Amino acid sequence: MRATHARSARRSQIMKYSTKTGSLSDARFGCLVANLKTARKAAAAIGAGKLFTAAAADFSDRLGQTLIVRLGSRSPLERFVVVGGLNESVSAAGFSKAVKAASTTLKSIPGKKALWTLTATAVANRDPYWKATTACSVLSNTFYSFNHHKSTATDVTAPTINAIGIHADERTKTSVARAVRHAQALKTGLDWARDLGNEPPNICTPSYLLREARKLAKDPKVSVSVLNEKRMAELNMGAFLAVSKGSETPGKMIIVQYQGARRRDAAPIALVGKGITFDTGGISLKSPRSMDEMKFDMCGAACVLGATRAAIAARLPINIVTVVAAAENMPSGRATRPGDIVVSSSGRTIEIINTDAEGRLVLCDALTYVARYKPRAVIDVATLTGACIVALGSHASAVYANDDELARSLIAAGEYSGDRAWQMPLWDEYQPALKSRFADIVNSTTGGAGSITAACFLSRFTEDLTWAHMDVAGSAFSGGANKGATGRPVGLLYRYLIEEAGK
Ligand code: BES
Ligand code: MN
Ligand code: ZN
Repeated sequence: MRATHARSARRSQIMKYSTKTGSLSDARFGCLVANLKTARKAAAAIGAGKLFTAAAADFSDRLGQTLIVRLGSRSPLERFVVVGGLNESVSAAGFSKAVKAASTTLKSIPGKKALWTLTATAVANRDPYWKATTACSVLSNTFYSFNHHKSTATDVTAPTINAIGIHADERTKTSVARAVRHAQALKTGLDWARDLGNEPPNICTPSYLLREARKLAKDPKVSVSVLNEKRMAELNMGAFLAVSKGSETPGKMIIVQYQGARRRDAAPIALVGKGITFDTGGISLKSPRSMDEMKFDMCGAACVLGATRAAIAARLPINIVTVVAAAENMPSGRATRPGDIVVSSSGRTIEIINTDAEGRLVLCDALTYVARYKPRAVIDVATLTGACIVALGSHASAVYANDDELARSLIAAGEYSGDRAWQMPLWDEYQPALKSRFADIVNSTTGGAGSITAACFLSRFTEDLTWAHMDVAGSAFSGGANKGATGRPVGLLYRYLIEEAGK
């Protein structure tokens, strides 16, 4: 049966990126996004030099500043968005700051099309591909909106720009075109991840995630399968089932396989996502404050699905197997009790001290399962601990790994994509916290370092794998006035997959 809820009012804008060479005063793009020098020159070229100079007289040409200059609809260029601080070469961080400001301003103006010329500014240690992908991913994030459940389409802040030409010259056009293609694919995956995260928990259930994942199988290179609870019981996934048994909504282990590599049997990259569609804490019930935000506890799942979709859309020559551990964590007469001992599919016994430490329980069985695909690397993504937010806040995702090269690749992919992560220790000294009086290990620890000990728990199930874990409790969604899924770290994973596909 379908839940009753508000009907979809409108979908978010479909932004189209393209590559454009030639004249800057192309009237088909009503708006030119440019640094002050370029804008002034373009205005002079269409006989609007004086007007422009007057309008820009008080502009402070610094990073983070922008100015809208309107020439009027009879001019070959109706509008300029002048972007400060970009006349000379800048650092990567400076460029990103300017691009964010430009993109926010662009969102506020009417008109459908804009021509983006900022790729011409020199950026230290960065090529045109980076400049173009950075621009597009910032634009994708800024222009995203989620109003599926507003009953009227009266959102006055909805952006109108829906096509952006990225300007390139003869020298840069090939790499800009590649960037545009990659950015368009990223947008598909990023928007999807954010939509999945933002859907309310009465709609976004494990079965919903399965239905959504199945859409990927329209592509002939993709297959989607599922382990239902009965099959999981046969596979002795006692840890996963200890979480889902308290809920009326059955848990699902969703498996997406993308065969993009030239060699069908090339070892895949495995992505594993925590898909708790609502985390009440179970019998170890959470306090009501901000409990609604626990609908975002499936953002790890949304992220791995989003990154997979982006990789598929970009036709990356790589094999990927993506596993989503989807369940709802509820208290009920059938729910797991604190103190219960269960057997995971690895054979290890787990004393469930705290039913609110459920993410590691669904993940450990998923990680054991994914080993059968003989992956060359496994990366799990999870909103795993509140302690991660204490440690890093929202600016960085935490990375843990049992392989230094994998950790380095992920951190570098985060740096490159502007979706940053920071490596945390997985030292042996933290392992004793998992000792149990009655079973092999406990699922919940005391004594601090909660994000690290959660990673240590997972490390017990990945000893034979090249594995990394990302705790994204702080980065995957925002609370407060900007409440919503961010789609992070889709950008990081996508960049990692592009790098791996090129190897
Ligand atoms: N989903 C939460 C972690 C979380 C909290 C993510 C806040 C995002 C924002 C996770 O399942 C959880 O409840 N973790 C516990 C672990 C503890 C019981 C060992 C936590 O962090 O308190
Ligand atoms: Mn929890
Ligand atoms: Zn949780």
